[in-house]
Amino acid sequence: MKKLVVKKSSPLYGTITTSGSKNSALPIIASALLSGEECVFKNIPNLEDIQTMLKLLKSFGVKNNFKNSEIKVNASNVNYYRADYELVRKMRASILVLGPLLARKRRAVVSLPGGCAIGTRPIDLHLFGMRKLGADIYINNGYVVAEAKHGLVGNLIKLPFKSVGATENILLGSAIAKGTTLIKNAAKEPEIEDLCNCLNKMGSKISGIGTSELKIEGVKNLSGVQYSIIPDRIVAGTLIIAALITRGILKITKIYPNHLDLPIRILKKMGADISIAKNHIVVNGKNSQLKSVDIVTEPYPGFPTDLQAQFMSLLAIVKGNSSVQEKIFENRFMHVGELNRLGANIKVNKDRALINGVDKLKGAEVMASDLRASVSLVLAGLMAQGETHINRIYHLDRGYENIEKKLNSCGAKIKRI
Ligand code: UD1
Repeated sequence: MKKLVVKKSSPLYGTITTSGSKNSALPIIASALLSGEECVFKNIPNLEDIQTMLKLLKSFGVKNNFKNSEIKVNASNVNYYRADYELVRKMRASILVLGPLLARKRRAVVSLPGGCAIGTRPIDLHLFGMRKLGADIYINNGYVVAEAKHGLVGNLIKLPFKSVGATENILLGSAIAKGTTLIKNAAKEPEIEDLCNCLNKMGSKISGIGTSELKIEGVKNLSGVQYSIIPDRIVAGTLIIAALITRGILKITKIYPNHLDLPIRILKKMGADISIAKNHIVVNGKNSQLKSVDIVTEPYPGFPTDLQAQFMSLLAIVKGNSSVQEKIFENRFMHVGELNRLGANIKVNKDRALINGVDKLKGAEVMASDLRASVSLVLAGLMAQGETHINRIYHLDRGYENIEKKLNSCGAKIKRI
């Protein structure tokens, strides 16, 4: 099995371009199921999760072609509506085909995604949303079997709490439903805004974009589209930490700084030297004397749970006591044990990690448990003395395009063996 060997790095210097957002790309690719015409999506990162979504679409008879960060999807023919276990188990976001399949084919059979390393992650809110749109749903042999004999019908849907995936599935299901849907307490992550903008370009009528109340007036058909997705704010945030943790200077391009407003404000409060332009930022780790901080993860515009592990690697070597409270997922501290193997001093108490900053970390053999946890170990490895061997890096390839190549171009010494 592949692993990464990360050597202690000197400060990183250079320019790195952020790739397109994985979490935007996945629902946007699924949106092509709603149209009978060709959709062309640009700025798509070449990642395992994207390949899984394309395989899933292919299994429905949907033609697609991925070349040079551009995907062409043609769903003029959708002849199968069952998302098999083999693909769904690889990626939870496969559930995002439920809404569009139901809307287009009036039937969908999707394997239950099951649990994952960061928590049980149920899909009850997705099913709640589809039922509100008129679907009959039951579970059979580990599959969600959904049917809307007369098509989906718009409704008022008040989510009991903000869910990114459920909001996306409801948007996808209601875009070509009969009548109007109002989603209350919708998640408002930038990736949802991106999906709404793409759907509107395809001819849907969504208003309230960027707020927690989304109104979708169902239309009959959606057309093809050419759409470029937003840069990945989580990759950008990870690169900011790379500059700070190695005390280097990185210019990060193709980034929308406003999507990282709170994390950047927190870093500045800690003492980070970050200058912001419209589409790029410069992080000067050399000039940054960092202080400890307390962080709480929350739905956007709160602090993103997907940056929690990376921040923890940085806080592990920041003098003083910091804390991280995880309010989105119940079990997202799997990286703590591994960071402690590298010499960090972190204790977990329920949903809170208490970090007592140490002077230095020391390389060791560690295990990646999920996507963001794996990159937090790469970051820690960059400043740990000696070598850090990271096992199970397939998690990393699900969400980071060429990460070792990008970091190595700025002076890191990371090898895949
Ligand atoms: C998406 C992101 C993921 C990010 C997360 C939170 C994608 C592909 N993934 O995941 O990277 O960490 O948002 O920002 O975009 N929940 C339920 N029932 C449901 C759905 C969710 O209880 O039906 C719970 C989850 O277990 C979790 C919380 O709601 O505790 C938030 O999950 P959600 O926002 O739905 O995350 P995902 O869409 O799975």
